[in-house]
Amino acid sequence: MGRPKLILTRRWPRAVEAHLQASFDVALNESDRPLTAAQLQDALRHYDAVLPTVTDLINADVLGVEPLRARLLANFGVGFNHIDLDAAKARGVTVTNTPDVLTDCTADLAMALLLAVARRVGEGERLVRSGLWRGWSPTQLLGAKITGKTLGLIGFGRIAQAMARKAHFGFGMPVIFHTPRPPGAEFCRSLGASPRESIEAVLREADFVSLHCPGGPANRHLVNAARLALMKPGAFLINTARGDVVDNEALVHALQNQAIAGAGLDVFEGEPNLHPGFLELENAVLLPHLGSATWETREAMGLRVAENVAAFFAGHTPPDKLA
Ligand code: 8YV
Repeated sequence: MGRPKLILTRRWPRAVEAHLQASFDVALNESDRPLTAAQLQDALRHYDAVLPTVTDLINADVLGVEPLRARLLANFGVGFNHIDLDAAKARGVTVTNTPDVLTDCTADLAMALLLAVARRVGEGERLVRSGLWRGWSPTQLLGAKITGKTLGLIGFGRIAQAMARKAHFGFGMPVIFHTPRPPGAEFCRSLGASPRESIEAVLREADFVSLHCPGGPANRHLVNAARLALMKPGAFLINTARGDVVDNEALVHALQNQAIAGAGLDVFEGEPNLHPGFLELENAVLLPHLGSATWETREAMGLRVAENVAAFFAGHTPPDKLA
């Protein structure tokens, strides 16, 4: 076999594209527009490996393409709910992801959203930019204190643990969490974190609830109207996981009625076409899926993809093989 043919479905940091081009025959998506299902199928027909991102929905239909040339889907990202792993397996396609390298930056962004929504950073910025700011006042844009408040985590994987560390050591926050299989007590104590027996218990107790569970059918609308109703009226919801983990309609409703104090959101159901109700809400901070968006992390993600691709085409099991 000559040099394997790869296609990147979006533009990556230039240094990583160049790194891949040194060893592989690489096609770039110069337009950087998300590929359609038909274009993804074309990619699967003509390349040995497709290197997708979260904007590529690779479901059983797309994977049903004939003839199928691609043997590897090396995802640029840790989350893989946009790829049907069973369908990939059935077609003999290996799937990899990029764990570890985006842990801290995603937790940093969750913390940024927490700080921003509690301290009304978005509203303050909009006020200054509007030209309507008339100067300091004792009651202007008062928010909620963060230091010492309780952080509740749903899920307790790498990113949640990083968030716990930052919140506990940086902001003196007691941390509670729910996950089906909590790690050992000593490890939890080292992060200032203690498990709760249910999601409901976390929602009832926390001042800030941050979501860190995978997306996909199993967790769709995990946070629904009934669960939002358990949160304290002064509590805030932070989502850097996946949009569909939250019933977005129910969240808009809860925010409109001030049933909870606010939300910091980096991900949305159906993004980038978010529920229009979000745009009207002052008590929501809205970001365009920036969790891992730093130069350092995006380059590290690209290099991690490159390691998986290199291992696969050298005949080894890729280090981050999912299916
Ligand atoms: C990525 C993410 O930017 O890795 C993930 O799961 O959500 C983001 O940090 C995106 O998925 C890239 O495909």
